[in-house]
Amino acid sequence: MEKKKEIVLSGIRPTGFLHLGNYFGALRNWARMQYEYDCYFFIADWHSLTTHADTKDLKVNTRRLVSELIAGGLDPEACVIYSQSDIPEIAELYLYLNMLAYRGELEKTATFKDKVRQQPENVNAGLLTYPVLQAADILIHRALKVPVGKDQEQHIEMTRNFAERFNYRYGNVFPLPVAFSYGGELLRILNLDGTGKMSKSENPMNTIYLNDDDALITKKIMKAKTDQGPAVENMQKPDYIQGLFTLLRLVSESDVVEKYESDFNQCVIRYGDMKKQLAEDMVSFIRPLREKAQNLQSDPAHIDEILSEGAVKARKSAAATLLKVREVMGF
Ligand code: TRP
Repeated sequence: MEKKKEIVLSGIRPTGFLHLGNYFGALRNWARMQYEYDCYFFIADWHSLTTHADTKDLKVNTRRLVSELIAGGLDPEACVIYSQSDIPEIAELYLYLNMLAYRGELEKTATFKDKVRQQPENVNAGLLTYPVLQAADILIHRALKVPVGKDQEQHIEMTRNFAERFNYRYGNVFPLPVAFSYGGELLRILNLDGTGKMSKSENPMNTIYLNDDDALITKKIMKAKTDQGPAVENMQKPDYIQGLFTLLRLVSESDVVEKYESDFNQCVIRYGDMKKQLAEDMVSFIRPLREKAQNLQSDPAHIDEILSEGAVKARKSAAATLLKVREVMGF
């Protein structure tokens, strides 16, 4: 019999366009994992309700996100892609796990505290129990590896705690999942003024999206923050310069990178030239992704079909877990 592959799961909220941080920080990892593991990747549409109560754009955003994920390398033949809201089993598991999650630990969660600061007028119970829903997302497939960024590690640790409590109280159903990335350290893609990570909530001029057209990509890169150039040889790069070099490394040929590295170290770098080169290479990198995503979006029925096939597979796995859960709980 073929050895059963480990189960991998990750999710993304349908709240905004995919950017380079999502691509290099997550999607590229996912695309690689789909051929080595039994992978589930899903659109966390219920999660988006904690911050975006309005559901009228959900369908469109979900379809766009799915086409971007596929354009970025996910292969619906190789992994399961689905919407969270198509899997009612997750909601039932969330209910059980909620009884094992304590107010104190939920209130201490870093992401919860951030959100309380950001939206003090809407501190809803869903926001507080967000990590419990995330645990249900993961445990419903008994996933072992969860490829996520640093900011999500605490949620994975909480998932392990909930799983352990469940196993201890009712019976051993869940393996304990871990956050995962190839090569350990996750790539940090900085925004174009070097003040933090590229993110969905950033100033859009400082973030490069997979949907940006050639002219916009060029404009953003040419406006990226630089300075007069290094003052002493071999000095450490400031964050905003390091960020540009990181991008260069990801999309340009290695001799180009070497040239600018050595120009920098010898204090003869011309940032204008470097940005022009980076813009050109970035445009060539993003264009095929953007075009593929746009093509896919021109056929919404096809995307819906991918999602409904994904839902069938995901529900099968979810139902098997829930059966065990109900059995050990005595329902
Ligand atoms: N919380 C994750 C984020 O904001 C999204 C997410 C929801 C997720 N459920 C998940 C990620 C389960 C991994 C596993 O990025």
